[in-house]
Amino acid sequence: MIIDGKKIAATLTQDMTLAVQKMQGRKPHLAFILVGDNSASQTYVRAKKKACVATGITSSLLELPSTIAQDVLLMEIEKRNQDPTIDGILVQLPLPSHISEAAILYAIDPAKDVDGFHPLNVGKMLLGEESGFLPCTPLGIKVLFEKSKISVEGKRVVIVGRSNIVGKPLAAILMQKKPHCNATVTIAHSQSEHLIEICQNADILVAAVGQRHFIKKEMVRPGAVVIDVGIHRLPDKSLTGDVDFAKVAPIASHITPVPGGVGPMTIAMLLQNTLKSCKNQFSLA
Ligand code: GUN
Repeated sequence: MIIDGKKIAATLTQDMTLAVQKMQGRKPHLAFILVGDNSASQTYVRAKKKACVATGITSSLLELPSTIAQDVLLMEIEKRNQDPTIDGILVQLPLPSHISEAAILYAIDPAKDVDGFHPLNVGKMLLGEESGFLPCTPLGIKVLFEKSKISVEGKRVVIVGRSNIVGKPLAAILMQKKPHCNATVTIAHSQSEHLIEICQNADILVAAVGQRHFIKKEMVRPGAVVIDVGIHRLPDKSLTGDVDFAKVAPIASHITPVPGGVGPMTIAMLLQNTLKSCKNQFSLA
């Protein structure tokens, strides 16, 4: 069965649109900062902005050249930290190599960190403390499981990939002693020994390696759930994932497509985090 992430995200977005309409006073505002001219980043930011418009969330976009000094970027972040009408700040990654990603992510006010990348929010996530923000892609995967009625409780979840954006936080979320979590999580990566056996053991296999068609049919136990976080553009301009979908789909019980699987959920969770932040700001005011 193919998990329709696009449809699930659309339903969530519809509900958020109604919630935004009902909000008294100002609307939520998400401030994007895009450094340089990475075309994938431009595409992602455009998609995120479009989703804001569709939901009634206001947004702004600051585009800076790749040569921008780190101090100038820090100053722009600080302006947005201080602006009470801004609920979320998103600095699209990756950044040019002369800028310290850590310095930038630390500079964002944790209360406006709708990406969930600030160390305070990462710490809260690990502790299972719910007042912070969870990163959008792992949160989107958790919600996909819930909406698709796929229980992860007690299941062997194997995550292939250990990035700060997907692999590590997804493990931290699914291992929590909480409803819809309680999974037995294994993190593997492209250099793991016995990777095929580790993957074959998975009830739920999450591919977040960043290599096209890295997950082959032999790595998937028949009946397993397969989640594909990868996104790669082929020479014919079409998109594909980290999973060899054509061969794996027939043996998986559930599988996410690329596009239309995890991607739309990431965007829906960004909107959800922005709404959460706005509600927090209102209650503080
Ligand atoms: N680059 C790739 N994924 C992300 C994301 O979720 N947030 C940001 N800010 N940059 C990214």
